[in-house]
Amino acid sequence: MPALPDLAPIETSALAAVAAASDEATLEAVRIAELGKKGRVSLLMRELGGMSPEERQTAGPALNGLRDRLAEAISARKAALEANALNARLATEREDLTLPPRPDPIGALHPVMQVFEELAAIFGDMGFAVAEGPDIEDDFHNFTALNFPEGHPAREMHDTFFLRADAKGARKVLRTHTSPVQIRTMVSQKPPIRIIAPGRVYRKDWDATHTPMFHQIEGLVIDCEVHMGHLKTCLTEAFSRFFEVPLAQSRFRPHFFPFTEPSAEMDIRCDRSGGEIRVGEGADWLEILGCGMVHPNVLRTCGVDPDAYQGFAFGLGVDRLAMLKYGMPDLRPYFEADVDWTRHYGFKPWLLPTVTGGLS
Ligand code: PHE
Repeated sequence: MPALPDLAPIETSALAAVAAASDEATLEAVRIAELGKKGRVSLLMRELGGMSPEERQTAGPALNGLRDRLAEAISARKAALEANALNARLATEREDLTLPPRPDPIGALHPVMQVFEELAAIFGDMGFAVAEGPDIEDDFHNFTALNFPEGHPAREMHDTFFLRADAKGARKVLRTHTSPVQIRTMVSQKPPIRIIAPGRVYRKDWDATHTPMFHQIEGLVIDCEVHMGHLKTCLTEAFSRFFEVPLAQSRFRPHFFPFTEPSAEMDIRCDRSGGEIRVGEGADWLEILGCGMVHPNVLRTCGVDPDAYQGFAFGLGVDRLAMLKYGMPDLRPYFEADVDWTRHYGFKPWLLPTVTGGLS
């Protein structure tokens, strides 16, 4: 029976090999060479079977200790190698999120979008939600439900784009105003209602101040005991905020819309004496929107009881409002996608307007 060799140099050389293993494959090879089935330490442990009990009493613990210390060193080394590998991978996959944006951004927010955002911020602050409807409307939502009688000349008033008739002879239209969103909202929601509806509208018109597609914002409030005083205060306050000047005076001139009664156009004070229009002061008046109390026929059509609820509505042209606020003389460049124009008149997309933080 061969005596056990000196374990100390074996341990030293094995631990050195573990420490020197620079990747997991090498470390695994060291483990197999020492602790594997035919490994150096395993083979020594097999000798224990042939020893006398006295020999085994010292050799057993010595070999077990060696095996345990080696196993521990191997697993510690393995954990360290894995951590190194992960760190190396993370370093290569690192994204530097601190890079500055392009110094010369190509695009800018179109003034129409800016005005949408500003009005959404102002009316949002007053408790209005944003509603939407389709650009391609049926006759019912665009006209009939809004109290335009069949064959009424008011239908011609809008220079409507009609689509081809379907199999039943019905012709859809490109909506001529955002008022159909009033109908869709009242049909699908119970009062109280407070919405604005920004969107594109279409009419056959094309000159310096008209384009066949333009933008409107509709507003609708339905509740118990709503009256013209609410309409006037709400709109005067909203446009004081929009033009960022106190509108000491606004004027509501009687007008006609089939879907409101009474109806009015709202004018605000302005000064045209200098080269440009100044809002909020002066001797002139500037028309900015149409409005009125929602007609009882419209409420009834939408299933709202006119004896229990009333409301007001308003609609305004966003393109013209943007021209006014940002001093753009011509409407046509709005739709020419000229980057130089957008850069000049556009807005930084990340500067969202807020009522408290400033609109523009
Ligand atoms: N829809 C009308 C237009 O396009 C504007 C309007 C909306 C008037 C709501 C009154 C109430 O001219």
